Amino acid sequence: MKQMAAEEAVNRIQEGMIVGLGTGSTAYWAIQKLAARVTDGLKIQAIATSSHSEKLAQSLGIPLLAAAQINSIDVTIDGADEVDADLNLIKGGGGALVREKIIAKASAYYIIIVDESKLVDKLGKFPLPIEIIPFGAEWTLKRITALGCKASFRQAEGKVYISDNGNYIADCEFGVIHQSGALQEAINLIPGVVESGLFIRMADEVIVGYNDESIKTLRSKEII
Ligand code: 5RP
Repeated sequence: MKQMAAEEAVNRIQEGMIVGLGTGSTAYWAIQKLAARVTDGLKIQAIATSSHSEKLAQSLGIPLLAAAQINSIDVTIDGADEVDADLNLIKGGGGALVREKIIAKASAYYIIIVDESKLVDKLGKFPLPIEIIPFGAEWTLKRITALGCKASFRQAEGKVYISDNGNYIADCEFGVIHQSGALQEAINLIPGVVESGLFIRMADEVIVGYNDESIKTLRSKEII
């Protein structure tokens, strides 16, 4: 399902484009397919949303650029942890939410690829990742908790998880999020917060792979 959605998205990539590469197990398939097209002669350049995806792209021969070398990105293809009926997203399960959001904002067109398990009516079942700087992290966590969630620092291999940017990730259980825009604003006002995994009105297109091997494309209302 993930592979089908990823390959459908990569079919949208055209000669000469600058492409944003996502992070995670679905984006993995997009990077693989893009690399196959590059091997077949497609000329593109790319920028990765994480050191993990950067290494993968490098190993597969995809030409990479640094952010400072790019004015704008033509298309970014990335996964998501949840997609709601308005194509709002929760991202950051893979810990790359900050670079993912920066790259999404710099992209003329933003394609999300998911399997059907990621579709929800309302966001919030998946704990919302929020990246915070290590200094004063306990205070920041308390302020986040006061917004109405249970929050804990993400762990990896028995230690606090550290993002590519040298920060912590708080995983925050809000339950059903009724007003994602208002929540995003409140989170962003907390000192020490770098960014949240709420991606509101950012996706132009969501490609969904279903169990029955079908694919469906959902488009944001603005561009229908
Ligand atoms: C990484 C992300 C991923 O896109 C998200 O976690 C989905 O991952 P997967 O495709 O493995 O389900 O936001 O920070």
